[in-house]
Amino acid sequence: MQEYLRALPKTELHLHIEGSLEPELMFELAQRNGIELDYASVDEVKAAYHFDDLQGFLNLYYQGMNVLRTRQDFFDLALDYFKRARSEGVVHIDMHFDPQAHLIRGVALEEVMAGLLEAKREAESSLDLSVGMIMAFLRDRPVEEALEVFEQAAPYHSRLDAIGLDSAERDNPPIEFKALFERARNAGIKGVAHAGEEGPADYIRQALDELDVVRIDHGVRCLEDEALTERLRQEQVVLTVCPLSNVCLKVVDRLESHPLPALLDKGLKITISSDDPAYFGGGLLANHIACHEAFGWEESTFQALNRNALEEAFIDEARRSELLERLTKTANR
Ligand code: ADE
Ligand code: ZN
Repeated sequence: MQEYLRALPKTELHLHIEGSLEPELMFELAQRNGIELDYASVDEVKAAYHFDDLQGFLNLYYQGMNVLRTRQDFFDLALDYFKRARSEGVVHIDMHFDPQAHLIRGVALEEVMAGLLEAKREAESSLDLSVGMIMAFLRDRPVEEALEVFEQAAPYHSRLDAIGLDSAERDNPPIEFKALFERARNAGIKGVAHAGEEGPADYIRQALDELDVVRIDHGVRCLEDEALTERLRQEQVVLTVCPLSNVCLKVVDRLESHPLPALLDKGLKITISSDDPAYFGGGLLANHIACHEAFGWEESTFQALNRNALEEAFIDEARRSELLERLTKTANR
């Protein structure tokens, strides 16, 4: 089964590129940039990765990315992950990145964008890996700042597939970002939002009604609201569920008690992703294997999940058709 899952052409819709920073690269970049880390070794970093909740993780996530300073750093970060993902059979990634988290540290937007766009170009030309770009905004910072950054990013608007909404969810409802998503929509840019990870089911409804998003990141708490769940089924809104992330951040006690099988039973359009693979115990393949072990899912379920992801990916139609065909071929082997 592991070999089947590795060979299956997989698509990841929910990945924070800053969350793919492995401790080894963190040390390398710290040395390159003359930055003193709070840790003496890679093992010490790994030992610190135990979280009580989303905020506990975010504290380390924002601290870790402090080593990213130049376009070369962002290029190395992204290409390092793209190569790893490709070796696990990933063929497409919609990549979130957090410009505000870099701007507030004094890193220019041009450095972030130049490095990430160059890595995307390299992945698409040499790795057989396509990459979508999701510029995410931090919901625990003021909407005015998000609007300014979106404006500042105007030279890159044509390179964005969507804007996203992430960071600490509790008490930071989607509706506060209505003006930002409206601005993006007027610029022809779609929206996606994290909702229903730690926040209530109502945040999912708000993201749909107030932000007009085309996908919900996480969304696992939808099951607390029957009418909402039925709406998600009827409209086939895609949920980007992150199994290992939900265990690490204690959204669920253990994978065996994750609502994923229930979400599938309800007929929802589900995909699986790794979220922050360097922090949560592995990439997309590890998430697939963990789901096989916890739920006993067989080939056809993984095929269906990856078909869902491909159908919803930010990708050109020629590449989508080609990848759908490759998925079918692998599935029928
Ligand atoms: N930023 C990076 N990972 C995140 C997550 N799982 N939820 C919210 N914000 C994030
Ligand atoms: Zn996320």
